[in-house]
Order: sequence, then C-alpha cells, then structure tokens
Amino acid sequence: MEIIILPTAAEVGHVAARKIAQTITRKPTAVVGLATGSSPQAIYGELAGMVRSGTLDAHAVRGFALDEYVGIAEDHPQSYASVIRHDVVEPLGMNPDLVRVPDGRADDIEAACIAYDEAIRTAGGVDIQILGIGANGHIGFNEPTSSFASRTRIKTLAPRTRADNARFFDSPDDVPTHCVTQGLGTIMDARQLVLVAQGSNKADAIAAAVEGPVSSLCPGSILQFHPHATIVVDEAAASGLTLADYYKYTYDNKPVWQRF
Ligand code: F6R
Repeated sequence: MEIIILPTAAEVGHVAARKIAQTITRKPTAVVGLATGSSPQAIYGELAGMVRSGTLDAHAVRGFALDEYVGIAEDHPQSYASVIRHDVVEPLGMNPDLVRVPDGRADDIEAACIAYDEAIRTAGGVDIQILGIGANGHIGFNEPTSSFASRTRIKTLAPRTRADNARFFDSPDDVPTHCVTQGLGTIMDARQLVLVAQGSNKADAIAAAVEGPVSSLCPGSILQFHPHATIVVDEAAASGLTLADYYKYTYDNKPVWQRF
C-alpha cells in the first residue's frame, strides 16, 4: 500500500489525476473504474483540463461505475448514470457507448448484476479503479460487514450513508434506501486501486482502512490485501494515521522511476 499525504485537497486531485492519466497514456483503451460522490470530483476536473489542453485523449477509454441507486429514474439528476455522464463522460470527451453504470432499475436486478460483472470481465478487467471512502469505511456502497468475497449486488444503504448523501437531495427522505454496488471481490480484481479522501470527517475511516485490522467492520481495510493500492489523502484526512511521518518520508524519497 502506498500512502501519499498532501497539504491540500486540490493537490490530492492533482496527484491522483496524474496517476490515472499515466495509465490512460500508456493504454488509450484502458478500463477505468469510476467513483461518484465529492471525493473524485477534483480528479475529474484535472483530467478534463488535460483533455482540453490536448495532453490527454480519453475518447477510447472504457469506464465502469462503482454503483447506482435503486429506486430513482435514470434521468434523475442524482442518479449515478446522470452524474457520470455530466461529471465524467462529457468533460473528458469519453464515448458514452464505452461507459457503463450498474442498472438499479432492472426488473431482474440479480441478473443485471451478474451481467455487469461479466461485462467487466469481457472488457479485460479494470486497469485502474478510482475509489472514495465513506465515513463508516465503505468503499463502493459496500457497507460495514459486507463480504470480502462479494460481487456486484443490491445492498441496503446504512443510515449514516443516507444522512451523509442527503446533501445531494432536496430532502433526507428522498435519499434511496437501496443501491447496486460492485462487490469488494469485484473491486479487488482491479489491477490498480487509487483511493482519495479529503477532510477530517474521513480521518477515522482512513486510519481504520490503512492501519487498523483487516475487518469487514471497515470494508476499506480490504485494500491492505491489494498488491497495487495507492491512498492519496490531505492532511486532515491523514490526521488519524500513526505512521504519517513515515509515509511522508517514503513519498519524499520515492525513486524517480517510480514517480507519476
Ligand atoms: C460512490 C462511492 C462511495 C463514495 C463514498 C464517499 O460511487 O462509491 O463509496 O466514494 O461514499 O463519498 P464522498 O466522496 O461524497 O464523501
């Protein structure tokens, strides 16, 4: 696990975007796993800037979103289908036909989830997965006690997650109770993981995920088992880390050939 602690939230977006851009530059048809929510917004903003300035071409990139709400229409402004189209596909000049979001509206959700995992496999697997983390340690919408072996499936959102996401909706009651999310097993199949977190409300989750015991009580702790996981956080999100000075020392002394 590589832990990168940066002074500001803007630098988190900048450095994480460089890592994603490096993958796309090496493989223009890369499969990128797409998170929603506030955490990756700076990454998408940086990548969009690179596309505008002509230093990045994302038109052949393939994308798979992590999750989707169940119970709201596809054209609802807060459906992740809408958010991915508006915040990622359009600004990055991606081909919408190459980007998929789990189907939270299917008549047979179980079959749709199996088909989603199959589509990721058929695409050759995710090359690089962008992740945020919930204040309760969830990744995707794998809430605490999710199985480490889980695949894409329907889940009940934890009350804390619904409260945290109420800011995106007109009223807290409008936040869906259910979602479809890639499983922890699905996420762990990605070749590289890049998790970003900003702000002190993520400090406990980051400390538990990075330095705590690997436990389904903190689903993000499964990243300790991934061979290529990079955690990029600002000082506030890093404030609960015991070995923060060591992570900074390691990053400052990173060999040039390993930098991105
Ligand atoms: C969203 C997702 C979630 C969020 C997490 C943090 O696709 O998978 O795990 O990353 O809830 O959300 P924000 O970034 O809004 O704090």
